Amino acid sequence: MLVTMRLSALFTVLCLVHPDPAWATARSSASGTSAAAPGRGEAPLNSTHANASVLACSALEGTFPTKLWVPGQANYTAENQHFWSPTDYASPLCVLTPSSASDVSTAVRILSRLKAKFAVRGGGHMPIPGYANINGGVLIALSDLGQLALANDSSYVSVGPGRRWEEVYAYLQPYGLIALGGRVGLVGVPGLLLGGGISFYSNQYGFAADNVIAYQVVLASGAIVTATASAYADLFWALKGGGNSFGIVTRFDLLTYSSPSICAGIMEYAGDQQQPFLAAVANFGQYGSADTKAAVIPSIFMLGALNTTVYTTALFYDTTANCSQPALSNFTALPAIANSYASTTLAAYVAGTDALIGDGTRQEFRVISSLATAAALQVVHDTFVQMVLDHIWDVDGIQASVAFQPVTSHFIQQGIAHGGNPQAVDVASAPYFWMVENFSWNSAADDAKIHAFALNVTSVIDAQLSAVGAKARYQYMNDAGSGQAIFQNYGAGNLAKLKAIRARYDPAKVYTDLMPGGWKVDLA
Ligand SMILES: Cc1cc2nc3c(=O)[nH]c(=O)nc-3n(C[C@H](O)[C@H](O)[C@H](O)COP(=O)(O)OP(=O)(O)OC[C@H]3O[C@@H](n4cnc5c(N)ncnc54)[C@H](O)[C@@H]3O)c2cc1C
Ligand SMILES: *[C@@H]1O[C@H](CO)[C@@H](O)[C@H](O)[C@H]1NC(C)=O
Ligand SMILES: *[C@@H]1O[C@H](CO)[C@@H](O)[C@H](O)[C@H]1NC(C)=O
Ligand SMILES: *[C@@H]1O[C@H](CO)[C@@H](O)[C@H](O)[C@H]1NC(C)=O
Ligand SMILES: *[C@@H]1O[C@H](CO)[C@@H](O)[C@H](O)[C@H]1NC(C)=O
Ligand SMILES: *[C@@H]1O[C@H](CO)[C@@H](O)[C@H](O)[C@H]1NC(C)=O
Ligand SMILES: *[C@@H]1O[C@H](CO)[C@@H](O)[C@H](O)[C@H]1NC(C)=O
Ligand SMILES: *[C@@H]1O[C@H](CO)[C@@H](O)[C@H](O)[C@H]1NC(C)=O
Ligand SMILES: *[C@@H]1O[C@H](CO)[C@@H](O)[C@H](O)[C@H]1NC(C)=O
Ligand SMILES: *[C@@H]1O[C@H](CO)[C@@H](O)[C@H](O)[C@H]1NC(C)=O
Repeated sequence: MLVTMRLSALFTVLCLVHPDPAWATARSSASGTSAAAPGRGEAPLNSTHANASVLACSALEGTFPTKLWVPGQANYTAENQHFWSPTDYASPLCVLTPSSASDVSTAVRILSRLKAKFAVRGGGHMPIPGYANINGGVLIALSDLGQLALANDSSYVSVGPGRRWEEVYAYLQPYGLIALGGRVGLVGVPGLLLGGGISFYSNQYGFAADNVIAYQVVLASGAIVTATASAYADLFWALKGGGNSFGIVTRFDLLTYSSPSICAGIMEYAGDQQQPFLAAVANFGQYGSADTKAAVIPSIFMLGALNTTVYTTALFYDTTANCSQPALSNFTALPAIANSYASTTLAAYVAGTDALIGDGTRQEFRVISSLATAAALQVVHDTFVQMVLDHIWDVDGIQASVAFQPVTSHFIQQGIAHGGNPQAVDVASAPYFWMVENFSWNSAADDAKIHAFALNVTSVIDAQLSAVGAKARYQYMNDAGSGQAIFQNYGAGNLAKLKAIRARYDPAKVYTDLMPGGWKVDLA
């Protein structure tokens, strides 16, 4: 079917080449037979009949005939399921895969003019339903924005938002360089950076976002600007943790650091190592600042199918030399049931761990934030383990974990040293544990049960942490669950600043109202 028609709202000539897209059906049933019919006898599209999504998909298809996908097409299905957790699959009316900033700009102009709802997806690893996908609207999938280019002086790398961290590390490896990003290779570049980003190198250099030196951004007006410390400096600051309320980022320039090889791996301990393991975690939390090249991700890991709880940690040390490092020795000294800690490269390490954390099972995250004390660890451990056993241990495929992310004062000070960020985490109360509870399970029928449990266990633990004087304020956006307070807990009155900057760059609230998914500064 090839139909030509005029849109009253747009000066766009549309070529509908796909068989029976949803909006074509909506258009012909809605517009009836009485309206005057230009072209080949079809009724003109009337914006008071068709909804804005129908109009937008038509208009986008006319403008991007080879980049617009509808239900039934393989690329639609692939893009709609290009998420870590199936809880994020939805029913967008159409999917656009722009391949340049200028495509994104054109799309934003069309969507905003038609007041059509849309979502933006980068790597698809934020597991909150509706945060990077949309029912009945337009999904902008950034998969084809794949720039990857090292600056001529090697001081930074330019990365498109369609990239995943493993691709960035593999690209930089031959140069002996790294950039700060995910500790899991499959995670997307843009979401991680817009929420801050915790890297294996964060104790040395701060949030991943503290190491961004330029953002190319498509503003709500469609204008394409480059925000740096000196141009659009307010926007530059806001993007280092302000999320997706300000624009669509189409390129990140990331500082590079020399790190030709590292020591990294995962150690796993049986349940009887609980006490020495928690002691090692508490000690690392307290003394980790002393050696900024060391990083760990200690976790409680509960596997329902095996009726078992084990303790694991990723161990990391930024050195080309001796992997036997005192900062990690409290972990390496414990008897392990598995140990892969050895000399490697960042690229090889993340490639090797991908298989452990693949797509396909349903996932929910929630954060807990505490001072880095032994008492806090014990509360979290004991309550989490007991409540999982009591409430969700029989859920099909259940895996429940808590990752204790030790955050040092040096980490936070690096944000200040790099010009400041909106998080403005309180250095005075550091060190912290920024913990993430992860739940994964098999069946959609258990979604509501897991969600209710995640809310309950988190509120019980938060209350207990308050009771022992160990609760901390900042909650990390990228590991949080729906409804947790994020921007409200940024320091130094920064929520008001973020709101003012948002209003300056997007007075029509395109990225708040038309793009409802994600953490929104205006709603905080
Ligand atoms: C297995 C796993 C491991 C993880 N490890 C780490 C880790 O080591 N360190 C860490 O800090 N975090 C980690 N995270 C959390 C991760 O940072 C977040 O899930 C992050 O949102 C993922 O980014 P993404 O691009 O894949 O997400 P998406 O789900 O695609 O996007 C997340 C949000 O950002 C918005 N967005 C995406 N791209 C753009 C853009 N270009 N412009 C504007 N808005 C955009 C989306 O609309 C959405 O609201 C991990 C997550 C998982 C699942
Ligand atoms: C669209 O339909 C409405 C209601 O039937 C009608 O009043 C309006 O004139 C139509 N607009 C156009 C541009 O055809
Ligand atoms: C569309 O599908 C083709 C064939 O599978 C694939 O090569 C291409 O990368 C896809 N494009 C997008 C944007 O998904
Ligand atoms: C718009 O109409 C289409 C087709 O009838 C429908 O599938 C879609 O859900 C609607 N979208 C919204 C946002 O109402
Ligand atoms: C590198 O230098 C070449 C030649 O001077 C120039 O064309 C190119 O834009 C530069 N690339 C970057 C990333 O600066
Ligand atoms: C699970 O393990 C505990 C002890 O760790 C035991 O008491 C319980 O019976 C086991 N449950 C099942 C279903 O095997
Ligand atoms: C590595 O470091 C450890 C502890 O710091 C030390 O005991 C050992 O001799 C070192 N090994 C080498 C080969 O330098
Ligand atoms: C290791 O544990 C001991 C106590 O057992 C503690 O004194 C020491 O500081 C710890 N070292 C590190 C690097 O955490
Ligand atoms: C929350 O968990 C506590 C402790 O296990 C339990 O007593 C309470 O009933 C739970 N509340 C809900 C709403 O599930
Ligand atoms: C839990 O999620 C965090 C991401 O925020 C990730 O770093 C960690 O590896 C996950 N842990 C497990 C056991 O999946």
